[in-house]
Amino acid sequence: MPGRIPEKFIDDLLARVDIVEVIEQRVPLKKAGRDWTARCPFHDERSPSFTVSPNKQFYHCFGCGAHGSAIKFLMEYDRMEFPDAVEELASRVGLKVPYEGGGKRTPAEDSADLYTVLDASAKFYQRELLKSDKARAYFDARGLDVQTIERFGLGYAPDGWDGLKNALGTTPQRIALLEKAGMLTRGERGTPYDRFRDRVMFPIQDRRGRVIAFGGRILEKTEDSGAKYLNSPETPLFHKGQQLFALWQVRQAHAKIPRLIVVEGYMDVIALFQHGVTQAVATLGTATTRDHAELLFRNCADVYFCFDGDRAGRGAAWKAVESVLPRMRDGRQAFFLFLPEGEDPDSLVRKEGQAGFEQRLKDAMPLSEFFFAHLRADVNLASLDGKARLAEHARPLLAQIPDGAFRDLMLGELDRITNVKLRVDTPVAAPRKSAMRPQERTLVRSAVGLLVQNPAFAAALQPPWLFATLRQPGIDLLAELIALCRERPAMSTAVLLEHYEGRDAVRALRKLATLDFPGEDDALRAEFVDAIRQLDRQTHQQRIDELLAKQSGGGLIETEKNELRELLSAKNTLRTH
Ligand code: UTP
Ligand code: MN
Repeated sequence: MPGRIPEKFIDDLLARVDIVEVIEQRVPLKKAGRDWTARCPFHDERSPSFTVSPNKQFYHCFGCGAHGSAIKFLMEYDRMEFPDAVEELASRVGLKVPYEGGGKRTPAEDSADLYTVLDASAKFYQRELLKSDKARAYFDARGLDVQTIERFGLGYAPDGWDGLKNALGTTPQRIALLEKAGMLTRGERGTPYDRFRDRVMFPIQDRRGRVIAFGGRILEKTEDSGAKYLNSPETPLFHKGQQLFALWQVRQAHAKIPRLIVVEGYMDVIALFQHGVTQAVATLGTATTRDHAELLFRNCADVYFCFDGDRAGRGAAWKAVESVLPRMRDGRQAFFLFLPEGEDPDSLVRKEGQAGFEQRLKDAMPLSEFFFAHLRADVNLASLDGKARLAEHARPLLAQIPDGAFRDLMLGELDRITNVKLRVDTPVAAPRKSAMRPQERTLVRSAVGLLVQNPAFAAALQPPWLFATLRQPGIDLLAELIALCRERPAMSTAVLLEHYEGRDAVRALRKLATLDFPGEDDALRAEFVDAIRQLDRQTHQQRIDELLAKQSGGGLIETEKNELRELLSAKNTLRTH
């Protein structure tokens, strides 16, 4: 039974912590009256609906409903476990967390022990580096100075099977912890031994500077030296798809990070730092994930991705694009920098220095440019087919961009590349945007679809056509169709489509005519009538909202007041219909 944290302690803790301070360190807040607001960090939005109340000591999002205390915020935002979030807040205000019931260790204590053995391992490797001439010679040959070695806490794992194990694994419990931390591994015979042997060591630190894992590089290639770099395995503390090497060092170097540069290797980051480019981070031998992208943008709005100029590099860059697109809220920018053949950031910054590297950053390609350049490379844009294929590839990707100006811009660019040119080049069959796009299924689309397939359904409706004033795409078309179908009740779908030939709407109608609506005739008729009824209700609500807005703005005249009163009371009747 893990020790419980008494509720009384939680109350005291929340009374002492200031939630505004906690959140402000992670999300930029703006003062708004007595509260603070921001764009919600838990969902994508354009305008701020996230508020933090110092009086109530809670946060609330009117958009997505996220809300809670400072503890809940850390759990959601930093993905902490409950005890860890409590520990974090307690340490801010200098309280020690009491655990009830004695019993076994709590998860928080357990991870505290893991941090301790990892920290001890880093120190052990640092001491070993001082003892090893060849390891120091290696760093020397790669041009690292003492400050850089210290800044990154670099070390050396000695040759042999149990250097670390003997130094730190003094009890069975400690051995178990070292193993859980990924520092020891087991062979076929089941005995744990040092995972890292005869390698220079790069500690990986979390956002608070604690060592959570290591990367180790062989000094020279020999027959049995294995992979050039070896990383810690996934452990309770280390998830490589969520960590960035050197983010801690970047945060230490800047009060406000001006930009982040993502490179591929440990040595690239380190060389950049040593040459004064102190905003570099690296993924840990994996492709850029969406978690990486979010972590990057949470730290800085401008992110530069650096890749080799070769095929593999472009492939990796495209993977990064796919991870970044869903994170491109307005205000965020991503750039792509492709390096000359045979160079990496390490070799380049040595050759060209800080100024040279920064010039390359200035010339980097914006995401939008790389996106379309990459897609264009695979198709022949001179052909209709090529344009269609490009649009087909681009659409699902662009659909992932959060709502906002960047998304509009990208969609506009796609239109420009695929449509406008098409109109100019080919006089025939230019697909124009119809009033209604067939792909999304909304209430209006369902209603139109059902009616196109069953024109006779229109007879089931009675005027007045309340919904006709609803401001939604496709409403005019729906109203027109209903009138037409009531006039000509025996009309078939084909005849109906014929009627629209030559008009913009025909494309959408044809699509809707082939949609599959499962169900019997009667059920479908009821579905159609219900859709219209729902649209009526929305129209009703639209007018209510209008009047309410006017009421709180300038006030209503007498007839409007009456109308509002009637609408509000009719709302209940409508609902029960
Ligand atoms: P590179 O092979 O490009 O090497 O690996 P590098 O960074 O230029 O290394 P140096 O300059 O030879 O020291 C880039 C990154 O890929 C991961 C590591 O994170 C490395 O920094 N990697 C590479 C591995 O995880 N395992 C490997 O065997 C090789
Ligand atoms: Mn390299």
